[in-house]
Amino acid sequence: MGKDAVPAPEPLGERRLDPFSKEGTMANPLAAWHAEHVNFARLLDLLEIQVANFHRGERPNYDLMGDIVYYLRSFADCIHHPREDVAFARLAEREPAMELVINRLLQEHRVISTASEELFNRLNEAAEDVLTPRVALEAAAATYVVYYRHHLAAEEGEIMPRAAQLLTQEDWAAVAATVPAASDPLFGNNVEARFRELRKQIAMEVRVSRQE
Ligand SMILES: [Fe+2]
Ligand SMILES: [Fe+2]
Repeated sequence: MGKDAVPAPEPLGERRLDPFSKEGTMANPLAAWHAEHVNFARLLDLLEIQVANFHRGERPNYDLMGDIVYYLRSFADCIHHPREDVAFARLAEREPAMELVINRLLQEHRVISTASEELFNRLNEAAEDVLTPRVALEAAAATYVVYYRHHLAAEEGEIMPRAAQLLTQEDWAAVAATVPAASDPLFGNNVEARFRELRKQIAMEVRVSRQE
């Protein structure tokens, strides 16, 4: 596995706890945190496949790309990242030497949020055949994938091992309480209508990668 690699995804449907449920988050917050990263990494892989199609001159599936970015905008930006912000703040209190890396990751949350919105808007324009320079769209999507993967890898490698050692039950309860518990509209048991096609694609990718 490369430096920025996130561990291989677990097959869908084999996880017992919904990581976004209160029970899932509190029973094993590190496992729930990691499961979310695995899900995001899957989506980035799918996005990358579409970017490669784009590069070859094929018309990518703009709807699928839009749904991926929409999910990351709404779920990662509104639930995952605010929880991390609280975990990071607690971690910095316990270990001030981590402040530098934590400040960088907090900044990355802000950059990811802006980049997600930008990319979402560009994809919508492209889907509606509004003239968007191909090179600019390809660069935006490819940069987004690389930046996001790097962010996940930094959290997995630099933050989570220390969080496992230093954060207390009380800290994890504060993390879980940051945003109200919500079911995951894509990876949860009740898939929202707009994400059904994306969920199907993910299941197909998992099947293909198991056969390889
Ligand atoms: Fe993050
Ligand atoms: Fe994260």
